[in-house]
Amino acid sequence: MTSLVHQLIDTLPKAELHLHIEGTLEPEMMLALAKRNKITLPYETVDDVRAAYQFDNLQDFLDVYYLGMSVLIEERDFHDLTWAYLTKVHADGLTHAEIFFDPQAHMERGIAFETVLAGITSALEQAHKELGITSKLIMCFLRHLSEEEAFDTLACACKHKDHIFAVGLDSSEQGHPPEKFERVFAQARKEGFVAVAHAGEEGPPENVENALDLLGVSRVDHGNSALQDAGLTRRLAQEQTPLTMCPISNLRLKGIPDLSAAPVKKALDANLLVTVNSDDPSYFGGYLNDNYRAVADALALTEPQIVTLARNSFKASFLEDSEKQTQLDRIDAQITRLRPA
Ligand code: ADE
Ligand code: ZN
Repeated sequence: MTSLVHQLIDTLPKAELHLHIEGTLEPEMMLALAKRNKITLPYETVDDVRAAYQFDNLQDFLDVYYLGMSVLIEERDFHDLTWAYLTKVHADGLTHAEIFFDPQAHMERGIAFETVLAGITSALEQAHKELGITSKLIMCFLRHLSEEEAFDTLACACKHKDHIFAVGLDSSEQGHPPEKFERVFAQARKEGFVAVAHAGEEGPPENVENALDLLGVSRVDHGNSALQDAGLTRRLAQEQTPLTMCPISNLRLKGIPDLSAAPVKKALDANLLVTVNSDDPSYFGGYLNDNYRAVADALALTEPQIVTLARNSFKASFLEDSEKQTQLDRIDAQITRLRPA
């Protein structure tokens, strides 16, 4: 019999707030696009691709991730990629998505910013019309590249404020701390973009603190190491700054030895606004609900804790307050439906 915890996970409306669209590229699509676009990959079969998905750390993964996305060339490739993700998670109860994209990883291969953006946004618009999924787009700066390149990328985003809601910071955390991008983030916020950043994934709690204080982020992506610092944990609880955690990603990148070490329960117990997300689901082998199930089982989460995680996903989102309320009401309606009469 399916437990109520699993029924809640399967059917509650949820938002995903930490999802790299390039990280949803499934091996089948990767090989099909490689053929269509005449790109040579070091893989022949789906099994070859999956065999490459063994990572000892974030950098190991990033090397494979940048190689994989080299098959994305045309606008329709970006559309197909985004549409495939949205239709898949629609079946998981996803009703809102805040999606990262990495334009610099495409522009350095000669793909125009507008090609990437047009493909992604047309799929987001189609998902709104046909699936009722709302979304926001977050443009990430690659932190292993220079400040100057980030400024150039920000200039591209400024031409598309109608489609890009926020800026983020991703890629290699080691050696590229938040302070490297303090001026870029100040300019981005001045231009009206909301700010988020990956911090505390592999880096120390100071990176989380500096993302808050120097980059002015409204939300921290991962933020795991913050839990090692009692003062910072208290601050995050008091300010209700969201953390977008990604348990299966942490496991696959060896940030944690097993799922029982995922800091989701610790964050819930400390009254943090923590959310569960998939990060790069194709590469890590788990979409949104797989991540919920993984932590529910490993941490023995209760029904109220699952409901809190689903509610947090909307509270931590960049939706308007009235839209958040609509989504929270939908959660309540689903709980009523599931509760035995
Ligand atoms: N880019 C894609 N996934 C990432 C992750 N988990 N951390 C940093 N950069 C990323
Ligand atoms: Zn991420």
